[in-house]
Formats: sequence, C-alpha cells, structure tokens
Amino acid sequence: MNLPYAESYKIKMVEAIKTSTRQEREEWLKEAKYNLFNLSSDKVFVDLLTDSGTGAMSDKQWAAMMLGDESYAGSSSYTNLKNSVKNILGFDYFLPTHQGRAAENVLFSVLVKEGDIVPGNSHFDTTKGHIEFRKAEAIDCTIDEAFSTTVLHDFKGSVDVQKLENVFISYPIERIPFIIVTITNNNAGGQPVSMQNLREVRKIADKYGVPVIFDSARFAENAYFIKTREAGYADKTIKQIVAEMYSYADGMTMSSKKDAIVNIGGFIALKNKAIYEKACVYNIMFEGFITYGGMAGRDMNALAQGLDEGTEFETLHSRIQQVAYLGNKLKEYGIPVQEPFGGHAIFVDAKRFLQNVSAEEFRAQTLAIELYLEAGVRGVEIGAIMADRDPITRENRFPELEFVRLAIPRRTYTNNHMNYVAVALKNVFDRRNEIKNGVKIVKEAPILRHFTVELDKI
Ligand code: F0G
Repeated sequence: MNLPYAESYKIKMVEAIKTSTRQEREEWLKEAKYNLFNLSSDKVFVDLLTDSGTGAMSDKQWAAMMLGDESYAGSSSYTNLKNSVKNILGFDYFLPTHQGRAAENVLFSVLVKEGDIVPGNSHFDTTKGHIEFRKAEAIDCTIDEAFSTTVLHDFKGSVDVQKLENVFISYPIERIPFIIVTITNNNAGGQPVSMQNLREVRKIADKYGVPVIFDSARFAENAYFIKTREAGYADKTIKQIVAEMYSYADGMTMSSKKDAIVNIGGFIALKNKAIYEKACVYNIMFEGFITYGGMAGRDMNALAQGLDEGTEFETLHSRIQQVAYLGNKLKEYGIPVQEPFGGHAIFVDAKRFLQNVSAEEFRAQTLAIELYLEAGVRGVEIGAIMADRDPITRENRFPELEFVRLAIPRRTYTNNHMNYVAVALKNVFDRRNEIKNGVKIVKEAPILRHFTVELDKI
C-alpha cells in the first residue's frame, strides 16, 4: 500500500477557536452589513478568507525574529534578506516594502503612466487597482481554458501568447511599459503558469523590448506544479526550478505573506539598476528607508528564513496535498469547483452552485454568506463585487467566473477542519434550490470596493 502524505511538521503551539450558533451568526452578519471582511475573527470558526499573512511560522522563523536587528539603516536583517533574495531568486537589486500592494505602488510609480496598457494574466485586484488608479489599463491575456471550471489543463493560469502578441500589435509600444505575469494565477483559481509559457512570454518581451515583471505571491507553489506536472522537471529541486523561472523575469513584486510564510512583508526585486534607483526614491517616500521599507528588522529575518523553507518540496507537498484533500471531499459531494485544484485554495463555482441567484444579485457573495451562516466558515467572494465597476462607464463588471474562494492558510488547520468545511458546504449544497434571493449594494467605495462594501439581503 502506498503511504499517504502527512504534514511535514508537528505542532508546538496552538490557538483556541470558537464555535457559535446559527442565531448568533445571523445577528453578527447583519451587523457586518453582510460583508465578511467586517466580522471580527472571534466570530469565525474556520477562517478561509485568505492564505495571506495567516500562515503559522516555524520555530526557526521565530528564532530568527529574536535576532532581528532594528537599526534604521544597514541592519543585518536587511543583509540577510538581501542575500536570501539573491540566492533563491537571483536578483541583485532589492527593496523591502510592507506588503505586496506596496511593492506594486512603488514600482508602478516608476513604470506606469496615464494611458499605458499593462498586459498580463488575470491581474490581481490590487495590481489592477494600482494600474487603473494611474489611469492606465490592465489587459487580461489569460488562456481561455481558465474561464471554464470543468476544462482540465495542467497550467490553467498561463498567458495566451497570441492574445499577448495582439496587444503589441494593437497599441503603440511606448504605451506598454511591461508585461506582468502572476504566478500562480490567483483570480483564475490559484492556477499555475508553465515554464514553457514563461519562456514564450520572455520571447515576446524580447521581440518588443519590454521588461517582464512577475507578481510572485505564490511563486513556490507555481514551482511545485512545474515539478509535478511539466515534462523535464521531476528530478529538479524547487530551488532549481525557481532559479530558472526568474531567469525569464526582469523584476518581481512580492507579497511575502503567502509563500514566504510570514504575517506581514513584501519586496521588489530587479535586475536593472536604473529602475531600482528610481524606485528607491518612491520607497523612501511611501515605505521607509531602503534598508527596511516598512518592515521591522525581526520581520525581515523571519522572511529570509521563510523564503528558504517555503521553497522546500516537503513544505509545498504537505500544503498543496491539504488543499487537494479539501477539493476531493467537495468533489465527492458533487460540489462544482475549479479544476484542477489550485495551489492555495479551492475555488467553488458559484455560477454552477447557485443557479437560482443571478449575477446582478451577486451570487458568489450570496454563497459566501450562506456558508458562514451554516457553520461559521469564512470564505471570500471572487466575483462581481470584487470585479469593481468599469473605471470609465461606471457600470458593474460581471466576470466570466464567479467564485467563493476557500483559501487555506499554511500550516494552520488540520484535515479535520477540512472535513468540517466540506460538510458545511455540502449542507448548503443540499438546500441550494431553496436559495433564491441574493444581495444588493447599499454603499461602496470607488475602487477595491469589496473590502468595505455594505450590502443588504434582497
Ligand atoms: N498579488 C497577488 C497575486 C495577490 O494574491 C496579492 C494578495 C497581492 C498581489 C497583494 O499583496 O496583500 O501583500 O498587499 N492577495 C491576498 C489574497 C490579499 O487574499 O489573495 P498584499
């Protein structure tokens, strides 16, 4: 018999979580204006809102924190992190930032101007936000396969090279400052991009002379999928695969809160000195001096260690197998999910799940609400609310895919929690035909509205 996978760690510290009654949850959610971001965490039993900053650090990371150097300039923690970025990712120039969107803010301040076009694969919402905020446009060139949850494709997050080339044919080159490749592709369902695709994107970038930036939040999970799915990589280590991936990039923005398994932090890394020098100015204005950029020395130390652990096969294997464990349970119950399963989350297909609720009544949010009411499980809507309004027409955008994302924090929950979540969702699925009314927006922000939107039941 094949041995099953088991976690590549044991637990040294625990944190209590509380159950609640349905009646309590109904009251809390009403007070929260049906926005799950407004719930305090003690009102949530299993929190799958995000895998960002919610992972459990290792004993070695906690030990590294104690050695943090809190000097304003030139701390040893900065040097540790700089070395780690150089050794694992291969970049000479690096700037710490307080998280991923801060890295976007600093780098895009240098690279993006009004009227620009930034092609990529399903730009993450903050990435798109930082592009649109500068009155530029993000063009999604993700392969079509990503937009059907039933089509199987090993690298569903990839860039459609023809769509990408069309952008270069349709717009003047001066208006295209760079190509952004998000690895893994979060909004398409935590789907990976193949090495072959990264190589092809590099080729197009070279042909037109533009840089390639990787939005790298889950780069290590991407490398895991390359190792386990792409021909020629089975015998390579994750670190070797990562090194090859970044040989095709000119720079990266990083939210360290995901694959580097820290609670806060981010960075920019670059090969080009001139861009780095310009970015330094914005980093000092927005984030802090270039040797800390909004991070405590102790946090930079933990991040340096996390980058190393996060790019070890054992860490990634137990993490991605846990995500698949939940995915398989849901499939067993007949629940429609994005397949293949993503690296960091299971994406429940709200369109196929709640067929009696229309897009206009925000079915993905409706499903997220039902799951919380059922069992105190918090997921997140990746659908029409998150898609925001069109910046020009101000009409609601209704994306092809409407998901409730169940993002699994790293090293945090056990498979018993996964069983609990699966049964909770099954119970909602069993009564799906009785769910006929969605929600309406009462109040919203002009951009990135999902964080603060106020809703009411219809
Ligand atoms: N890029 C990707 C692909 C992301 O998933 C995120 C964050 C960011 C950039 C921004 O990073 O949060 O550190 O500022 N994603 C989180 C999520 C919030 O829940 O998926 P940040």
